[in-house]
Amino acid sequence: MDQAIQKGDAIMGASRRLIAATGWKMNNDAAATRRYAAELYQRLAGLRVGSLELYVLPPFTSLAAAAAAFAPGPVAIGAQNMHAEDAGAWTGEVSAPMLVEAGCRYVELAHSERLAHFGETYELVRRKLNAALRHGLVPILCLGETAEDRTAGRADAVLCAQLDTALADQPAERIADAILAYEPRWAIGAAAAASPEHVAARHGAIRAQVARRWGAAAAAAVRIIYGGSVTPANGGALVALADVDGLFVGRAAWTAAGYAAMIDVVSRAATIKGVPT
Ligand code: 13P
Repeated sequence: MDQAIQKGDAIMGASRRLIAATGWKMNNDAAATRRYAAELYQRLAGLRVGSLELYVLPPFTSLAAAAAAFAPGPVAIGAQNMHAEDAGAWTGEVSAPMLVEAGCRYVELAHSERLAHFGETYELVRRKLNAALRHGLVPILCLGETAEDRTAGRADAVLCAQLDTALADQPAERIADAILAYEPRWAIGAAAAASPEHVAARHGAIRAQVARRWGAAAAAAVRIIYGGSVTPANGGALVALADVDGLFVGRAAWTAAGYAAMIDVVSRAATIKGVPT
């Protein structure tokens, strides 16, 4: 893994804090959340966590357990979805103020499973993102092309359109308040992650679009993390890339041992990229 991390790749990312995050999807009930946190704390004692930004996204019903268990830090918590309105007749939904009250600092928006199975669109995501920022939550905005988009050579056009739609209402000063997550839809829950070459090109395209639309300062500051079949074996080469500011992990971090291994991967990359750990 260390050999995969080249100093030259890392120069541009030197000032951005690296992220090691996991979305649990529909896994880990409250009891499992408490066990996960207890084991993670034991494992974190042996790692250099320093200035890494760490967060887990449990299901709604585990947020209270997670908020209590992770209260000592450094792992923050967030939700996997929210409604765009603050309150009202929206049966089954949860709002941004409710997430804040539950102890969330983050909210994930536009995950491919929400788009594929729950009919979400980037127009709706824009409204959710506006509400999240208004309430002080950090939106994690997922961007990703389908396999069909990739084959047709329109991945970057699709990513730029998603970015432009979701962030349409935001001024340049707010862009870095969000975290962008490049998650190719064909690489989520798959056998393998996207290749470092593919990821480098897409992250570069996303950052270039931020620069075109919101300016160089926003582009230099915004974090773009990668998600999709990340493991301890492939994560080092991905987080080493200049425009990759962290890893967003599903299956490989649903256990505390797995998440600790991913934190270790990101911590090593931070050392080599010159981000303090
Ligand atoms: P996997 O790591 O299980 O492919 O899931 C990734 C993901 O959905 C990140 O949001």
